[in-house]
Amino acid sequence: MTGGIGERSRRAASGAEAGPSGRRDPADVDSSDRAPADEDRADRAPATVGAALCAGAARLAASARWQRGDLDAADAKGDARALLAGLLGVEPRDLPARARAPLGQADAGRFMALVAGRCQGAPVSRLLGQRGFWTLDLAVGPATLDPRPDSETLVEAALAALPDRAAPLRVLDLGTGTGCLLLALLSERPAASGWGIDLAADAVAVARANARSHGLAARAHFAQGDFRRPDLGPPDDPAWDLAARFDVVLTNPPYIPSGDIAGLAPEVSAHDPRLALDGGDDGLAAYRALALTLPAVLADAGWAFIELGDGQAEAVAACMAAAGMHVIGTRPDLGARQRCLLLRAPRAR
Ligand SMILES: C[S@@+](CC[C@H](N)C(=O)[O-])C[C@H]1O[C@@H](n2cnc3c(N)ncnc32)[C@H](O)[C@@H]1O
Repeated sequence: MTGGIGERSRRAASGAEAGPSGRRDPADVDSSDRAPADEDRADRAPATVGAALCAGAARLAASARWQRGDLDAADAKGDARALLAGLLGVEPRDLPARARAPLGQADAGRFMALVAGRCQGAPVSRLLGQRGFWTLDLAVGPATLDPRPDSETLVEAALAALPDRAAPLRVLDLGTGTGCLLLALLSERPAASGWGIDLAADAVAVARANARSHGLAARAHFAQGDFRRPDLGPPDDPAWDLAARFDVVLTNPPYIPSGDIAGLAPEVSAHDPRLALDGGDDGLAAYRALALTLPAVLADAGWAFIELGDGQAEAVAACMAAAGMHVIGTRPDLGARQRCLLLRAPRAR
């Protein structure tokens, strides 16, 4: 998916070819998304990696015309490649060299089932249960946001502001989801340690598993907690100690206005959890809560890096300044949108 969480699909914006919900009925997919060239071999599984790629891409391209209107042939090929590579456990760039390699019937069947899921609008990362973020492959689950490349802006901003690789930083990630922000920062700062907090217990379990699979579990701790409370709940873990405040807070809170969620691309509205998206009537509810929580959890010289939704920089900065935080500036994402707000604790300087 390209763009930030709030980007609407062209299809949903135009309402073309879709029912009132902006989505085609999934029941339509099976009969209409088959590429014409596949008609006479639909009952035969593709026998080689190359044939499977062609069949998968053709099926995706054909279904896109009907279902989304915004997936072109290049996207279809890319998605087919990503799905097959994920299934086979190789890098997409390695597939051309394997084009003539045989593909077992079971793998071919699994691949075409993944393609069918993509035809129905499921994101590639949800189908594979994995998403690359920073340098890490992370598991995603129904309770976690699918991490977005835009959020890497927070990691870059934190690394630039805190360049000492050996600093024993204490890091807090509020609304951690997969744990992506905390794990990415800890992967670059070997003496740092931290906590990721989320209201969703199932997200906490995914984040813990991600920490284990990257050898970071000794430094990355996760617990259920509520960032709307200055004591964070408190998190239900005997090791939790808020008395030792944090040098760095990273947070990507829910920031979509409630009324906009139904109009988002189906990949977002139907697959990302509402708890990860819903920022209340004006999209700013979580920021207002965080403005009270940040001064309570930050060390005197602490830094905070907050993800911003499109057009929210001014309102969020004003809200944080009113709570006594020092506003340092913003950093743009690759699409030149102001994505990260940099703050220092009230007692900093
Ligand atoms: C936009 S997602 C960000 C997830 C992850 N940090 C990322 O960047 O991919 C927001 C996260 O905040 C969590 N969340 C929502 N309300 C919360 C609350 N009151 N306290 C703690 N976590 C909350 C959601 O469950 C979700 O995981």
